[in-house]
Amino acid sequence: MLNVVVLAAGQGKRMRSDCPKVLHKLAGKPLLAHVLAAARSLQPVSLTVVVGHGGQLVCEQMAANDVQFAWQHEQKGTGHALKQALPLINANAEQTLVLSGDVPLIQSETLLRLLNQQSAEPHSMAILTLSLSNPTGYGRIVRDSSGKVVGIVEEKDASADEKKIREINTGIMVLPTERLSDWLSKLDCGNAQGEFYLTDVVQQAVAEQLAVVTENPAQAWEADGVNNPLQLATLERTWQQEQARRLLLDGLHLADPARFDLRGTLRHGRDVFIDVGVICEGEVVLGDAVNIGAHCVLKNVRIESGAKIEAFCHVENAHIGASATVGPYARLRPGAHLAERTHVGNFVEIKNSHLGKDSKAGHLAYLGDAEIGERVNVGAGTITCNYDGANKWRTIIEDDVFIGSDTQLVAPVQVGACATIGAGTTVVHDVKAGALAVGSRNYREIERWRRAKKITKTAEQAENDGMAPSSDAPKNNEER
Ligand code: UD1
Ligand code: MG
Repeated sequence: MLNVVVLAAGQGKRMRSDCPKVLHKLAGKPLLAHVLAAARSLQPVSLTVVVGHGGQLVCEQMAANDVQFAWQHEQKGTGHALKQALPLINANAEQTLVLSGDVPLIQSETLLRLLNQQSAEPHSMAILTLSLSNPTGYGRIVRDSSGKVVGIVEEKDASADEKKIREINTGIMVLPTERLSDWLSKLDCGNAQGEFYLTDVVQQAVAEQLAVVTENPAQAWEADGVNNPLQLATLERTWQQEQARRLLLDGLHLADPARFDLRGTLRHGRDVFIDVGVICEGEVVLGDAVNIGAHCVLKNVRIESGAKIEAFCHVENAHIGASATVGPYARLRPGAHLAERTHVGNFVEIKNSHLGKDSKAGHLAYLGDAEIGERVNVGAGTITCNYDGANKWRTIIEDDVFIGSDTQLVAPVQVGACATIGAGTTVVHDVKAGALAVGSRNYREIERWRRAKKITKTAEQAENDGMAPSSDAPKNNEER
C-alpha cells in the first residue's frame, strides 16, 4: 500500500504572479493537476497535498474525492511540510512517496521503478536522482567511497568540493511510512536557510543502517521544476514536443511538431493531417482522413471521417459530420452540429444549431438556435434574429429551402419545406411549404440625389481638433 504526499505550500516568489505557483498551467492544466494525475496512476490509498501560500485557491481548484489537503501555515521547509501531512496519511501503508507540486512532468513509469527499488529492500528509502552538467541550486547526493549514499547537502550548505558533485536530488523520494514520524520529529533547522530539510532524513536512515537507494528518471525533463515563467515556457515546449512525438509515432500527420499545441487529449483515426499552428484543447476526436488547416483552434470537438477544416477556424463544443467542409474563417460555437457533407464557408458563425445533410451556408451568416433541414441553401448575409433582448427563440428551416442573400429570420419562425425566401427579406411570420416569401422593400428611386459632403472645418475648429463641430454649423442633411 502506498501513500502519496505532494508538497505544494511554497510561495513561488519567482513567478512574480498573484496566482499560486502550482495553479499555473502547463498544456492547459494546472501544474498540480499533472502531478496528481501521475500520483493517481499509482493507485495510492491516500493522496495528500500540503498547501500554504494561496492554499485556499489551491483547495478550491483541486478539490476531489480522493484528495485531502494538509495545511502548512508557515513555510518552514520541506521536512516541516511533510510533517503536516502525517495525521492524514495511512499509517499501515508501507510506502510514502513524496512529490513536488512544481515538478509536473514526472511520469508514472519512473515512479513505479522508484517504488520497486524501495520495496526491494524493506525499510529502505529511495531517492530519484539525476546527473546534471550544471547542478547549481540543487541538493547534491553525497556518497561514500563505496558508492553508498550517505547524505544530501543543499547548495547553500555545500562545501566547495560538495558543489562539484553532479548528481542531484530531484526532491522525489519514497520513504518507509513507519519511520516517518520519528525521523521528521528529529529534524532540526541548524542550516544556512534555517529550515527543516526533508533531505536530512537520509542521515537518519544511514545511522539506522537502512539502505538508501537511488533511481533515475527515464528522461531528464521529468525532474524539471518550475520556478519562473521562463522555466514554465521552456517546459511547455518540452512537453508539447513530447506529445507531438507520441502522436507522430502513433500515425498522426503533423506538418510541424514544433508548431502544434495539445492542451488536453486528442484521439485520431488514420491519415489525419494537421497543418501548422493548430491548437487542440479539451477532448478532440478526429476521424479517418480528417484534414485540419493552419491556425485552427479546436476545443472539445468531434470531427467525423473525411471532413476538412480550412485555415483559421475556431471550433468549440461542436460536432462536424463526415465529409463536411468548414472555413476558412468559420466560427462554430457550442452546440453547432453539422451533418454529413455540409458546407460552412468564410465568416459564418453557428451556435446551438443543427445543419442537416448537404446543406450549405457559404458566406457571412449568423445561425443561432436554428434547426436547419437537409439540402438547404443559406445565402450570404443571412441572420437568425434569435434574441429579443430577453429570450432566445428557435428558427426552424425545413428540407430543401432556399434562403436568398441578406435575409433576416425573426425567431420564433418556421420555414416550410421547399420554400424560397427572396433576397433581402425580413421573415417575421412562418412561411408555408413550397411558398415564395419576399419582403416589402418599399423600393424607390430619387433622381439627382446629392450625397452628404464632408464638413470643412474653420481655422478655429481645426485648432480644437477632435471636438464636435459647433451646433450652428450647417447640417448637410437639412439641405435635402
Ligand atoms: C528541494 C530539495 C533539494 C532538491 C530540490 C529539487 C530540500 C531541503 N531540498 O530544494 O535537495 O534538489 O528541491 O527541486 O528538500 N515546500 C513546502 N513547504 C515548505 C518548503 C517547500 O510545501 O516549507 C514545497 C514547495 O512548494 C515545493 C517543494 O516543497 O513544491 C520543494 O521546495 P523548494 O523550496 O522548491 O525546495 P528547494 O530549495 O528547491
Ligand atoms: Mg525548488
